[in-house]
Amino acid sequence: MTEQPVHRADLRIDVDALRNNVALLAERARRSGARTMVVVKSDGYGHGAATVARAALSAGASELGVAAIGEALRLRADGITAPLLCWLHAPGDDFDAAVAADVQLGVSSEAELHAIAAAAQARSTTARVHLKIDTGLSRNGCPPELWPSLVERAAKAQAAGVVEVVAVWSHLACADELGHPSIDAQAARFDAAYRQARAAGLDPIRHLANSAAVLTRPDLHFELVRPGIAAYGLDPVPQDGDHGLVPAMTFRSTVVLTKRVAAGESVSYGHRWTADRPCTLALVPVGYADGVPRSLSGRMDVWLAGRRRPVVGRVCMDQLVVRCDDDPVAAGDEVVLFGAGEQGAPTAAEWAEALGTIHYEIVTGMYRPRVTRTAVGTEAT
Ligand SMILES: Cc1ncc(COP(=O)(O)O)c(C=O)c1O
Repeated sequence: MTEQPVHRADLRIDVDALRNNVALLAERARRSGARTMVVVKSDGYGHGAATVARAALSAGASELGVAAIGEALRLRADGITAPLLCWLHAPGDDFDAAVAADVQLGVSSEAELHAIAAAAQARSTTARVHLKIDTGLSRNGCPPELWPSLVERAAKAQAAGVVEVVAVWSHLACADELGHPSIDAQAARFDAAYRQARAAGLDPIRHLANSAAVLTRPDLHFELVRPGIAAYGLDPVPQDGDHGLVPAMTFRSTVVLTKRVAAGESVSYGHRWTADRPCTLALVPVGYADGVPRSLSGRMDVWLAGRRRPVVGRVCMDQLVVRCDDDPVAAGDEVVLFGAGEQGAPTAAEWAEALGTIHYEIVTGMYRPRVTRTAVGTEAT
């Protein structure tokens, strides 16, 4: 017997929204003379990396970025031929496969440079690398004290024809906090590192700006920008005003059962909610196993039958209950748990706010075994 998929909810990915967002970001970059690399790591922030990649490239992005080599190779297997950068390497990562697939590689250390150069040499080819300077985020990237040696080695490897140094790059820690002093401090360190690379005989481009910096710091666009979250329509700097981004992910389910309950009847485990008058309840077959956090019990609304309605009682593993008062709600009605927020419907940003986290974490965690994902829109792929 073939395995039947269990459909409890769907993530609808609006490709037109993705294209709108990328076009808007690419236009801002273009005004600074910069190209746009859209970051599609972690399966396109949960939206589907290949879908996002195609939408981004058709809307003005020139290249794509991912964290892991495996993510880059999957995009190549999906037919994405655009320039692709990958930057977070782990022991045992297959640089040979990356070089063979023309994946450009971030380099944070001489050891990485050495391993990548060896892979290129073995293939009698040239690996394209982006040297990453740690300007203050203190994650990956080369510490400033090791940078002069790294750029010297890279220049030698470039002269030998085994690597081509495409770029010097870094990543910002606090770009979403407008005016945070670390932004200029990182930019100054970045400039110093770039000058050292040039002094070593390299002629790289520069990239530093994530979404927040694309939107608020045109002076840091350089030759290439690297937005992620804004391409998905989630604003990292809402305090800066409306940037015209449209959330691309809608999390939907359907009502499977409705029932009337009398005043005094309680709902779900622990009986944390009791009807104070007769009302209609709608049962929705999604729960914490499907990405609805149990800690939102009694603290979330859904959009159902034309308005926001509260989830009552505890969110369970597989189901939740919506209070519908006396309204005509029926099995089969669509339920939007979060989406683009039209007419005041819930958004991923609203979930994040209630949960004390960021919308990045919400959308990247939504694609799960019982949840389907469907790309829609004029350019759906
Ligand atoms: C190295 C790097 N560049 C760019 C981005 C995109 O950042 P954002 O999604 O904030 O635009 C990320 C995401 O975390 C990243 O790790």
